[in-house]
Amino acid sequence: MFPKQVFPETSEIDSNGRLVIGGCNTLDLAEEFGTPVYVIDEVTVRNRCQEFVKEFSSVYPNSKVLYASKAYINPALAKIFNEEGLGLDVVSGGEFAVAKAAGFPLEEVYFHGNNKTPDELTQSLQGGIGRIVVDSFHELEVLNDIALSNGKIQDILIRVSPGIDPHTHAYTTTGIIDSKFGFSIQTGDAENAIKWALNAENLELIGLHFHLGSPIFELEPYTAATDLVLRFAAQFRENGLNLREFSPGGGFAIAYTRDQMPPDISDYAGCIVSTMTSTCDELGMEYPKLLIEPGRSIIGPAGVALYKVGAIKDIPGVRKYVSVDGGMGDNIRPALYQAEYEVVSAAQADRDGDDKVTIAGKYCESGDVLATDIFLPRLSSGDVIAIPASGAYCPSMASNYNLNPRPPIILVKDGASRLIRRRESYEDLMYCDVV
Ligand code: LLP
Repeated sequence: MFPKQVFPETSEIDSNGRLVIGGCNTLDLAEEFGTPVYVIDEVTVRNRCQEFVKEFSSVYPNSKVLYASKAYINPALAKIFNEEGLGLDVVSGGEFAVAKAAGFPLEEVYFHGNNKTPDELTQSLQGGIGRIVVDSFHELEVLNDIALSNGKIQDILIRVSPGIDPHTHAYTTTGIIDSKFGFSIQTGDAENAIKWALNAENLELIGLHFHLGSPIFELEPYTAATDLVLRFAAQFRENGLNLREFSPGGGFAIAYTRDQMPPDISDYAGCIVSTMTSTCDELGMEYPKLLIEPGRSIIGPAGVALYKVGAIKDIPGVRKYVSVDGGMGDNIRPALYQAEYEVVSAAQADRDGDDKVTIAGKYCESGDVLATDIFLPRLSSGDVIAIPASGAYCPSMASNYNLNPRPPIILVKDGASRLIRRRESYEDLMYCDVV
């Protein structure tokens, strides 16, 4: 059966069994734009933004959704997030530059990261960034100096590490003690950082932030960490900490495969907000502004990657490899995190197949496999396959390995397609080379 739950909201299958997204036939898109190509359904992106805003603001009006740009951003998408009333979480000068180029209100931008460079800090501060989420003692000192020399008092949040395991992949777990991110509450670093920041002449400490990891399928880690961090913050009231903003980060899960059942956005909102209000009530604390930072859960379900089948190698009794024209260069997630994806044949999207195949990429690595031992209708060279839930951390983590150009991104809506990033050319690949 077609796994509709992992495809964009507008996905349908036409009377010939072909996959249609945003009113556009995927085979036509593959023909027009070539493959590999990433198709993003605008309706899904906007609906996910609206759902986050609605679910959080209905239970906690003083809340703001910041889109985590690292999941994937470019100027066209930044404009959409702005239209939907979101702020942005950026983690590099590059992401900040995209926000700026898109005319994003920079006071709604939050800068995260464990090792922001002095240049990044200077440029974002001079550009009028809203908040900097400070992650280390080194950054506290550097930022205070930069703010001083620019004659500014910069609003900051401090990123704390609550020491709570969200039970996700080790590479994407961040809020535990053994992490490069944040000031650990357990070791006393968080306390020292707060005191340092409160005394810093050119920094205004207005809140605390944590991010546990990604994707998080359980609610309990959010509940436990929210309670712990608020209690921790309350200890510094006499020191002058007025917690005006509080962020439990992002990490909200999506379904990649038909058997995955992530919580609804309303479940995440309910558990975070009920914990916040009850802990604040108990401590007699004013309710801070709530910030949340979804990335994957907004853009992930909206994206579908289309590839064309090339070589097919059947090794009797061993495995059947179906190679496609993309792979780890545009989607590193299976190789890096053992991530699993659904795959459908774009021309026979309604058919469950019985041909057991492994979808391999075109890169020169045996680990360049997109899906292992899955069942599809019999594929031939030239057929197009579609991999859903590919909007997040695929184009944004893409590389030019083997000097393959990175794929284009198409936004689809109401039967119309719009190129929002063209395919790289060979000239692009050599653009920075000096002979
Ligand atoms: N806020 C902070 C501080 C983060 O570090 C992250 C993700 C987010 C928000 C957004 O998390 P999301 O809602 O997108 O799950 N490359 C990995 C994911 C790395 C996430 C890094 N930080 C993957 O492909 O699964």
